[in-house]
Order: sequence, then C-alpha cells, then structure tokens
Amino acid sequence: MNINGLTRTIGLIGNPVEHTLSPVIHNNISKRMDIDSVYVPFRVEADGLDKAINGAYELNILGLNVTVPHKNAVKEFLVDIDGAARDIGAVNTLVRDESKHGYKGYNTDYMGLERQIKEDGIELSGRTVAILGAGGAAKAVTYMCIKNGASKIYILNRTIDKARQIAEDMYGLLNNDTSLYNSFCDSSKETDKDNMLIKDIVVDRISSKEYIIPISLNDNNVITEDNLIAFQATSIGLSPNIDKVVIEDKEFYKKIAVGVDLIYNPATTKFMKLVNENGGKAYNALKMLLYQGVAAYELWHKISVPQEIIEEVYLELKRSVYPKDNIVLIGFMGSGKSTVGKALAERASMNFIDSDEYIENKAGMSIADIFEKMGEDEFRRIETETLIELRDNLSNTVLATGGGMPLRRENAILLKEIGRVFYLTAANRVIYDRVKEDTKRPLLFCDDPYSKICDLMKERRPLYEKACDVKVDTNSNDLEEVLAAIS
Ligand code: ATR
Repeated sequence: MNINGLTRTIGLIGNPVEHTLSPVIHNNISKRMDIDSVYVPFRVEADGLDKAINGAYELNILGLNVTVPHKNAVKEFLVDIDGAARDIGAVNTLVRDESKHGYKGYNTDYMGLERQIKEDGIELSGRTVAILGAGGAAKAVTYMCIKNGASKIYILNRTIDKARQIAEDMYGLLNNDTSLYNSFCDSSKETDKDNMLIKDIVVDRISSKEYIIPISLNDNNVITEDNLIAFQATSIGLSPNIDKVVIEDKEFYKKIAVGVDLIYNPATTKFMKLVNENGGKAYNALKMLLYQGVAAYELWHKISVPQEIIEEVYLELKRSVYPKDNIVLIGFMGSGKSTVGKALAERASMNFIDSDEYIENKAGMSIADIFEKMGEDEFRRIETETLIELRDNLSNTVLATGGGMPLRRENAILLKEIGRVFYLTAANRVIYDRVKEDTKRPLLFCDDPYSKICDLMKERRPLYEKACDVKVDTNSNDLEEVLAAIS
C-alpha cells in the first residue's frame, strides 16, 4: 500500500469496531482496482457522534460506514438521506456531499441483502415470507420483501410489540409513501388462479392490515402456508452459541422452502441445518456483508466494481471469516508436491491427501484409465467435484494436487477456499529429469516429452502464479529448504 498526499480516507464509525471485516472488503477492492483510498475503523462513543461526523467532514474523509450503536442516531447529523434509509430508519453508509457541506446517509445493508437474494435466485414476488426477529435487521428485511412483491409477511418475535411496531411502520409507508407502494405493485406477480392478481389480493390485505402479521415466536404454528421463504434476523445462533435457534419445532421447518440466515458465522447455523434437514435450501448472509460493502464502495468512489473483482474479494472475505488450517500444494508434475507434502504432513502432524490418488480411489480406476476411457474433460469435471467435497470436509491436512488442477478458474478459487496455496516451482529441465523415467504420466506419452513439458509450462505457469498465495523454488532439490519455505 502506497499512502501519499492524494490518498483518500474511507472508514467505519461504531463501538466496538475491533472485529470488523469491512477493511478486508474495501482495502481489497482498492488494491485490486488500483484506487488510491484506504479504509480505517474508528471507535466513536455515542456522545461524540456529532463531533466525529463534523470532524470527518473537515478532515476531508470521503465516506464512512456506520455500525452499532450509531445506525439510528447518526440520522440527526446528516445533510440528506436516501429514501430507503429513511423508510427503514437506519443508516449504515455516509457519502460526502460537497455541495451541502456534509454527508448523505444510505442503507446499503438493505441493498446488500437484495443483491444477495437476486444472485442466489430467490424470487420474493408472490411468496409468503416468515421473518424471525424484529430488530433493525428484521425491519430492513421486511422493507425489502415488500419492495420485491412478497404476497404476505409474518414477523415472528419474542417481544411481539416490536413486531407490531414494524408492521405499523410499514403500513404507514405503504399508505403514504408512493415509492414503496409503487415498487411493491411493480414487483408483485400475476397469478393465473381465478384470473386474480396477487397484487389485488395483497392490496386488500394491506387495507385490512392482514398483509404483515406480527406473531409471537411461540405461536409459529398459526402459519398455515407452506413453501415459505424464511429470514432469520435475530442474533441467536451466532458463534460461539452455535447450537441455539429461536424456533426448534420441526413442523415449522417443514413449511420452509428457502431459508436465509442473516448470521454468517458459523457458515452453517443451526437454523440453516434445520431448514436443510427438512427439505429446504439454506443460505447464510456472507454475500450480504460483501454486497453492502460493495454498494458503499460504489457510492463513495462513483464507480461500478467488476464482478471478477467482487468474486476475488469474496474469497478473501471467506478466508478471513472461516480461516482454514490446510496447506495446498500446486505445481507441474514432478515439482515435488507428493514428496514435499508427505514430509510436511509428518513433521506437522497433519493428514496428507494426494488429489490424484483420492480421485483414483473414488473412480475405481487409474488417472491414465480415466483419461483414456472418459476423456480429459470428464477428468477435469471429477477434479472440481472432488475439490468441493474436500473444501467442505478437510481440516489439518496437506493436499497435494494434480498438475492440471488449478488451470480451471473455479478450481483455483476452490483451492484457495481449502487452504493456503503454495506453488512449487522448478525449471523445465529439472522437471524433465525428475519425470523422464516415470511411465504413469499420460500427458507425456509422446515422442518428445521435454518439448511437451516446455509447451505445457508456457501455458500453465501464469495460471499457477495466479492460483497461489506463495511461490516456493524447488530447483535445489533440497527438501529441508523447501519445507522451511512452507512452514
Ligand atoms: P439488529 O438491529 O441486529 O436486528 P436487535 O435490534 O438487537 O439487533 O434485535 C435482535 C433480535 O434478536 C430481536 O428480534 C430480539 O428479540 P426481542 O425483540 O424480543 O428482544 C432477538 N433476540 C435476542 N435474543 C433473543 C432470545 N434469547 N430469544 C429470542 N429472540 C431473541
């Protein structure tokens, strides 16, 4: 990072801010897009909020995220507020407005959730929704569900008055705020049943106040609909209390087709497990975290972050939230992945897996036979399938991979999700000397294996470099030196 006189500051105000993941998002986008800005967390006490915001403006800070406990209080100190943030009643992003000499507030939490559910293919239009919780997060979820045309919304909370309050606030908006009403009408779908429009049904429900239904968590059995989309918006189930969930009753989960937990740590919450066990599809909200950050970044820098960069940043984010203790070795055949991997595993009391052997056991035939009988494409497909399996199950393991493994972009991403990736490098001639006697290398079944190695290396080297975290030179053939470079 090169900080200079032109570097712009962006950041976060909240209390506490020590565990925030936002720097991972923003500083990675800046680095990858070569944008000269730096993201810094600032701990701000409640009674110093006004001074912090005025001071930030005077310090020429480009923009700020706002987190607990300031998301509501901050509204007082803004020069403008975006419609959705005003409706939801919470602001998590401040964007500098020179013309008004202050900051405009936005709610990118809501934008992030909307973008996540679109990306995950969750269609809210015409669907019945159940929201667990009635805090700030639940309010943003309710707003998003209305905006995207949900046909009925249950809000379930321990303290029913809070659920009632959200319902009242939303009815107020639907009756007085044409923008929410219009986007709801635009999004709600036609149904061919009796030629009725869901929209008409819901408009009736809105007027009779039967559209948003507050209920106590214990009364969840009053929900008669199934095929629900459910959002878990309470703090229950968050790590380390991973065995907790606000509703245990299996009958409730049988009614859920899709469940989204706003918690992302652990990656699979108890709520998500219960949704899965009862036949539904479950998602956590790590992408919401990612996209609320991307949305803020785009507002501050007035740019659009390319999807490829978003995917890379998502990977970094995953690695920060769910750090893996595995080591992955990549490189050309003969670069020493098996030898180094086995020695490393033994020294560090780790397990060792060779992905080629793993695939051979799984397929019940040798790699050479898979190539011959099924073709290279099928082999590559099996490799990807295997990596997904390994990503979800491996820990404390050294994984040595087949030479072609990181060539597919999706495999390269999966390898980084599995662990820290080391690229074992060696000169073409060194590799040739190491493999020339080996009869089990289908790619070298040709008249001039050395030229084949040179051709393949030319193509593969940049891909290996892109797929790795660390490069390790093995030309010396000195195992100790290589092990020292890895551990
Ligand atoms: P946020 O702004 O992140 O949504 P919040 O406003 O503190 O956070 O809301 C937390 C949610 O978790 C609320 O719905 C809360 O229920 P209450 O309104 O009844 O307090 C819910 N919650 C917290 N602890 C709970 C518990 N032990 N059992 C059930 N719900 C709980």
